[in-house]
Amino acid sequence: MKEYNPIGLFDSGIGGTTIWREVNKLLPNEDTIYLADSKNAPYGQKSKEEIIHLSEKNVEFLLNKNSKIIVIACNTATTNAIDYLRAKYKTPLIGLEPAIKPASNQSKTGVIGVLATKSTIESELFQKGVNTFENTEIITQIGYNLVSLIESGQINSKTTKKLLEEYLNPMIEKNIDQLVLGCTHYPYLIPIIKQIIPDTIKIIDSGEAVAKQTKNILNSLNLLNLTNIHPKNEFFINTDSSVLKSFLPNINSVYELDF
Ligand code: DGL
Repeated sequence: MKEYNPIGLFDSGIGGTTIWREVNKLLPNEDTIYLADSKNAPYGQKSKEEIIHLSEKNVEFLLNKNSKIIVIACNTATTNAIDYLRAKYKTPLIGLEPAIKPASNQSKTGVIGVLATKSTIESELFQKGVNTFENTEIITQIGYNLVSLIESGQINSKTTKKLLEEYLNPMIEKNIDQLVLGCTHYPYLIPIIKQIIPDTIKIIDSGEAVAKQTKNILNSLNLLNLTNIHPKNEFFINTDSSVLKSFLPNINSVYELDF
């Protein structure tokens, strides 16, 4: 692999673009290839086996495009498939998990909330992580239907707000002071979440940390692209691309593919 090869990223859909934004902000010289497997979203309702199979297909796609590193911009794919993928591929893989640690460190009430998909919350990796925080009460909530609403562009719909109220109000009542967004789609809901939760609750997602980790790994492997004057950012999606384009209005290279 050479430093001029792209950084590959994938998600079950368009949510991982919240991670792409952070990677692009921190590493603006890098070429990137983003794959949205929107046809198969949501992954959060699928079995571990299905998630592994789909993640493998996505990694193969990004390797065929010569990715020098792959960011799994999806908590659900990471928590269910990263061990399998790391055993199979030599290319460095950056995974993404709900940011419980920083939330727990910053919590004053000792109670934090985690909103994530069913498959993330039920995964062995997540459950193991939760059990290591003995002094923090972790309230988990599955964000049923949120991914589908975001994929169809219904961010500001009444249904979305109603569901969020249903998921967040019990956490507020339990006195959380940190809300971890454990799904890369959810940062697109922050404006509505802020209408529901008080200012005293801090919203935490993993985007910036993942971008920093990507930079560190590339640096340690001497794979940072320091000289690229015209970086290319390409997006591939296997459904209609209009919602993706509306999320990234400044990107011209969006391709609809059948895969
Ligand atoms: N963006 C994915 C995640 O971070 C969404 C999963 C889904 O498709 O349900 O978990």
